[in-house]
Amino acid sequence: MFERKTYIQRRQTLMRTLSGGVVLLLGNDHSPMNYRDNMYPFRQDSTFLYYVGLDHPQLAALIDLDEGRCTIYGRTPTVDDVIWSGPQPTLAELAQAVGADDVQETEALDAAVTRVLATGRRLHFLAPYRGDTQLRLESLLSLRSGAAAHRASMDLTRAVIAQRSVKEEQEIEQIEIALQTTLDMHVCGMEVTQPGVVEREMVGLIEGLAISGGGRLAFPCIFTRRGEVLHNHTYANELQAGDLVVHDSGAASPKHYASDITRTIPVGQRFTERQRAIYSAVLAAQEDAIKVVKPGVRFIDVHLTAARTLTQHLQALNIMQGDTDESVAAGAHALFFPHGLGHMMGLDVHDMENLGEDLVGYDSETTRATKFGLRGLRFGKVLQPAYVMTVEPGCYFIGPLIDQWRAAGTQAAFINYEETDHWRSFGGVRIEDDVLVTDDGYRVLGPGIPKAPEEVEALVMGDQDEI
Ligand code: GLY
Ligand code: MN
Ligand code: MN
Repeated sequence: MFERKTYIQRRQTLMRTLSGGVVLLLGNDHSPMNYRDNMYPFRQDSTFLYYVGLDHPQLAALIDLDEGRCTIYGRTPTVDDVIWSGPQPTLAELAQAVGADDVQETEALDAAVTRVLATGRRLHFLAPYRGDTQLRLESLLSLRSGAAAHRASMDLTRAVIAQRSVKEEQEIEQIEIALQTTLDMHVCGMEVTQPGVVEREMVGLIEGLAISGGGRLAFPCIFTRRGEVLHNHTYANELQAGDLVVHDSGAASPKHYASDITRTIPVGQRFTERQRAIYSAVLAAQEDAIKVVKPGVRFIDVHLTAARTLTQHLQALNIMQGDTDESVAAGAHALFFPHGLGHMMGLDVHDMENLGEDLVGYDSETTRATKFGLRGLRFGKVLQPAYVMTVEPGCYFIGPLIDQWRAAGTQAAFINYEETDHWRSFGGVRIEDDVLVTDDGYRVLGPGIPKAPEEVEALVMGDQDEI
């Protein structure tokens, strides 16, 4: 955890933002895989981590906004806990570490919540995203099943989003730490990938590096020769010379901050001419997009910058045609670039997505588009200093999508469907970096993970030379 004062200051900011009442934050519990004692690795709720800092299961916090007090609710460790899990900190030690004012046994939480409600005070809580948290909330508040999500406090939700969106220096440092490990993961991807290797063998190595780095993966690894499947989480294919692999993975730092990097790798040889052409198109789109990142710019316009560059390159390859600006305005590029340019990143890889994607990424000035392609953009609003965004354009040849558009004559003025026939088995390319919005521009975070085609080829071929 960070220093005690971090959590005290964060809670003070929250207290100043909200006008009164009590905030209830429920930490996460263990999550069983197939029976109670065989659990997924524990992951604390990110908002709980942000304000309370304690990375332990079965905790809750009540923050009294009027009295300025924070009480932690948990279980005093038993001898049984010590036998199975080793020495445990006491509740008082946990509270002291994060500057909380008081501790209570879990059983006291019901009565405390009842007191708040009985005295007509406002109880703020966030919409649950785990079933057990939803049940707990609904039991604490005597709500019918399914009601908790609708009764969540929008004031609290907006306050949390506003605060967590603007990253502290120490949070940026955590992302940089995560990216050091992610560098190793991606260099491993480039060096070890070769014909005959099965995707899952690479995924094992990559996930191992994330764990060795002191955290875990920030999200399930994507490592696939079927890069046109955007979030492909199957790893059964054997790689063949000439394949193109999309590798999208990121380590989480020991304090649980995410990183999220995509590189695209030629298997066992240099990029073919076609691969290089599409790779260069995506890289140019990414670099042009990154260059326009600065405070005051809408992220939807950063997305459209990438779309314009990609369109120009696809026109040069005779895959697209017509006036570039008209094509971008019509959204024709979405056939090849059907997802958004990126998302906010922090404690969560899609930061705060549990609080509502539109609440994080849109506001009264910038509303989500309904058009295919743009509607997948998770974040469109104006950028502010200390936001961290991913910039991840891609270009994919998705057979069923091409067929659907072609049959319907969709965007026929801008797409050379005859030419797309020659690209159907291409797969896909995505290139992703994590970008900090600075006071007057941007900084690409991380140690410089190779992405120039020559750098990628050197790592790919270097390994071959040794064989
Ligand atoms: N790794 C998931 C994403 O890029 O959004
Ligand atoms: Mn990614
Ligand atoms: Mn991403």
